[in-house]
Amino acid sequence: MSKKLEGKVAIITGGASGIGEATARQFAIHGARMIVIADIQDELGQKVVESIGSHKCTYMHCDVTDEDQVKNLVQTTVQNHGRLDIMFSNAGTFSNSPQTVVELDLAALDRLFAINVRGMAACVKHAARAMVELNIRGSIVCTASTCARSGGDSLTDYHMSKHAVVGLVRSASKQLGVHGIRVNSVSPAAVGTPLLCRYLGMEAEEAEQVFEPLTSLKGVALKAKHIADAVVFLASLDSELITGHDLVVDAGALLK
Ligand SMILES: NC(=O)c1ccc[n+]([C@@H]2O[C@H](COP(=O)([O-])OP(=O)(O)OC[C@H]3O[C@@H](n4cnc5c(N)ncnc54)[C@H](O)[C@@H]3O)[C@@H](O)[C@H]2O)c1
Repeated sequence: MSKKLEGKVAIITGGASGIGEATARQFAIHGARMIVIADIQDELGQKVVESIGSHKCTYMHCDVTDEDQVKNLVQTTVQNHGRLDIMFSNAGTFSNSPQTVVELDLAALDRLFAINVRGMAACVKHAARAMVELNIRGSIVCTASTCARSGGDSLTDYHMSKHAVVGLVRSASKQLGVHGIRVNSVSPAAVGTPLLCRYLGMEAEEAEQVFEPLTSLKGVALKAKHIADAVVFLASLDSELITGHDLVVDAGALLK
């Protein structure tokens, strides 16, 4: 297999679980020199490092709602590994409960935005600063969602937050293009990760069955690895002239 990320240094936020974890594994397979997993689940993060190998993967505690921690994550990565080529800003959370706009709990919305919007912006900001300073034509990828593509009957706060991610990506891509830095997002449909399974109160396979009727492509369930493959594409030179793009990975669900 061709190694698309040979020698690259990458940060993955939310890398201890789900889509971030699957992406860390794909980055390692594709030859990344160092993958820094940043998360708040320290034990899980360390386990991912052990299974990938501490010679090419390391863990840092980083709560993306705290800008100082994000700044420190980026600075420490550059100090320890000499550069930063890829930021996969992926850490995110889901709505506490279903809610229409008239039922919105604004305190819950603030908590969700602190991670999904403010945290995402902090990661893009500090990664971009480091890449500009080091003159690196890097790639920044954010995790949005198919919820960024349409209004929702419910989950108002989550839909709003993911629309904001696409706004961040589009603006940052315009501003950073002059430095050769690309900024894109990946938008998964429902994947049976802990985030979704917790909300639905289901195991991953059960969750996949719930969403299978919504997709056009049959015979394959959407897994975190499918999203990770799209992130490898956006992180690598295979997507050299792609920036400001939101890559939907949904097995055709949005077309329905
Ligand atoms: N699973 C889905 O169906 C789905 C669909 C579309 C988009 N997404 C998005 O994918 C991303 C990854 O989610 P996932 O499904 O892999 O869920 P997950 O719960 O498996 O992983 C999310 C990770 O983010 C970490 N995290 C949460 N808050 C954090 C914080 N403040 N600082 C640092 N890390 C934090 C969690 O500890 C966890 O390890 C999220 O942005 C989510 O919104 C998921």
